[in-house]
Amino acid sequence: MVTQGDIVVNPPPSGVVVEPMAWFETPGPFELEIGCGKGGFLLNRARTNPHLRFLGIEWANKYYLYCADRMARWQITNVRVMRTDAKVFVMNHLPPACVSVLHLYHPDPWPKKRHHKRRLVQGGFVDAALRALVPGGQWLVQSDHAEYFAQIQRLLGERPELELTPWNETDCQAGPDWAGTNYEVKYSKQGCEIYRAAYILRPRLK
Ligand SMILES: C[S@@+](CC[C@H](N)C(=O)[O-])C[C@H]1O[C@@H](n2cnc3c(N)ncnc32)[C@H](O)[C@@H]1O
Repeated sequence: MVTQGDIVVNPPPSGVVVEPMAWFETPGPFELEIGCGKGGFLLNRARTNPHLRFLGIEWANKYYLYCADRMARWQITNVRVMRTDAKVFVMNHLPPACVSVLHLYHPDPWPKKRHHKRRLVQGGFVDAALRALVPGGQWLVQSDHAEYFAQIQRLLGERPELELTPWNETDCQAGPDWAGTNYEVKYSKQGCEIYRAAYILRPRLK
């Protein structure tokens, strides 16, 4: 019987680098979803890919609890959920080359110009995210906000380590398991355009 306590992992203390496989009974490729919200995407992806291991990070307490409870209700054993600031976690607590897919869907756009500095995707975070990806790993990003999405594309597009790949060739979209994220479903119903990009981390040059 899986309980909410089995799903939740606490954020590590300052200076501690985690070992994600220690959270699971058996090892497997490790995927990270940042800002998993109510966990709609995570639930579907985890259910249909029991060989994969997942961490969903969510800052908002209400959504984090909802997501963890949802995983427990579905008796999901290959997901862990952490309430923390993903920027701090990725920059300080993830070991290098451990994430096979980084899912970033509808990151908060902070539309006012004076708030742009709060956006997740910027220099130091991008460096840390690339360090955390395994060579050949994917970074999938999706947004309903054209201007933030264009900024993300610019930032990731200028990284020589990353190769832009067609979205429909990614493991996620190609499989039958793409049920959409909660925001994707909501904005699609309103007729909003959804912007998507997929990048692969090229194998490291010696
Ligand atoms: C617009 S919602 C999108 C939720 C989900 N990805 C989806 O597509 O339905 C953005 C989510 O990211 C969370 N979030 C924003 N900044 C975060 C951060 N630094 N660390 C963790 N979660 C964050 C918010 O609390 C919110 O639940």
